[in-house]
Amino acid sequence: MMNKPKTGEYIAALANLPKTAPYHALSEEVVNIVNRCSTPDEVANLHKQLLQDLINRGRENSFVNQFPASIEAMYGVEVDRIETLCEKVDDEYFDLGNDLFLKDLAICSRRLLPAGAQLVEISGLPRTASLKNGLSNFIDFWRFVTFVLKGTAPLYEIHTNLSNLSDFNPEGWDRCYVRIGHLLKLNPSIKGMIGGSWFYDPEIEKISPKLAYLRQRPFEHNAKFFFANTEGIHSGALAKSDTRRRLYEEGHYIPRAYFMVWARRDLIEFSTTHEHLLDTPAVALKVAD
Ligand SMILES: CC(C)(COP(=O)(O)OP(=O)(O)OC[C@H]1O[C@@H](n2cnc3c(N)ncnc32)[C@H](O)[C@@H]1OP(=O)(O)O)[C@@H](O)C(=O)NCCC(=O)NCCS
Repeated sequence: MMNKPKTGEYIAALANLPKTAPYHALSEEVVNIVNRCSTPDEVANLHKQLLQDLINRGRENSFVNQFPASIEAMYGVEVDRIETLCEKVDDEYFDLGNDLFLKDLAICSRRLLPAGAQLVEISGLPRTASLKNGLSNFIDFWRFVTFVLKGTAPLYEIHTNLSNLSDFNPEGWDRCYVRIGHLLKLNPSIKGMIGGSWFYDPEIEKISPKLAYLRQRPFEHNAKFFFANTEGIHSGALAKSDTRRRLYEEGHYIPRAYFMVWARRDLIEFSTTHEHLLDTPAVALKVAD
């Protein structure tokens, strides 16, 4: 009979993942640990205990890392949410196939940093984006990468957290940019921020004007946009909006994803000039003992 998995070995397996692995990447080591559970109920109990242990470690500050106070504050909000959620949701929530659970796990293990409206991880700008939209896009891409961004990686990549949309509004996103500016100030090697989404498509401001701020705000502060790919029926663009779904069905709208890339210098400037939007101190370090 296989021995029951323990959270200690799970935490060690998570720590073995490469630092730049995306939040949803799972190593064979992790999958093998989970596969030693005999039932979905056991998986759920293992994962609930894992989240709690990681949260306790975070509270004891056993992670040797440095985070701005504004990010620490968001970490507190997210772990409170996750602790409440663990008491309420069904066992299926804790399946490795559930992206919401993977995001919670990544928050608790500090692979995803909560910045309010968005979660943050380290990533890069795919060079293939230079090839997607003709010669002038190719030139624009490499001119921007060479002279402004100064390389395609490492960048902070942002992700929407569907478990917490309370700050998914213009003011919440502005606060999020300010916090990411704090992260950039503490981490000089990070070249800027990247996001990839259908809501960076210039068409969106015509179809869904309430979402125009998502592209406009970074655009007004020198962010660049590069076409990524066309999305189909499963695009997030069609998940919540009757209007976009109707236009898609009528052939008047095709979701197109774009990368938004905001260079370090420009995002830090935004953060500094919008500091007043936060009530937490600018860059108070939390240094492990
Ligand atoms: C990204 C997302 C969170 C944005 O949500 P949002 O800020 O509410 O904006 P949306 O335009 O998507 O809103 C969807 C619908 O809810 C309606 N709505 C939004 N806020 C509302 C409110 N306060 N009261 C009533 N209706 C509201 C909108 O009018 C819209 O319907 P419509 O387009 O037919 O008019 C949402 O589209 C979503 O969950 N998408 C799926 C996942 C996804 O795409 N993630 C990002 C991947 S990069």
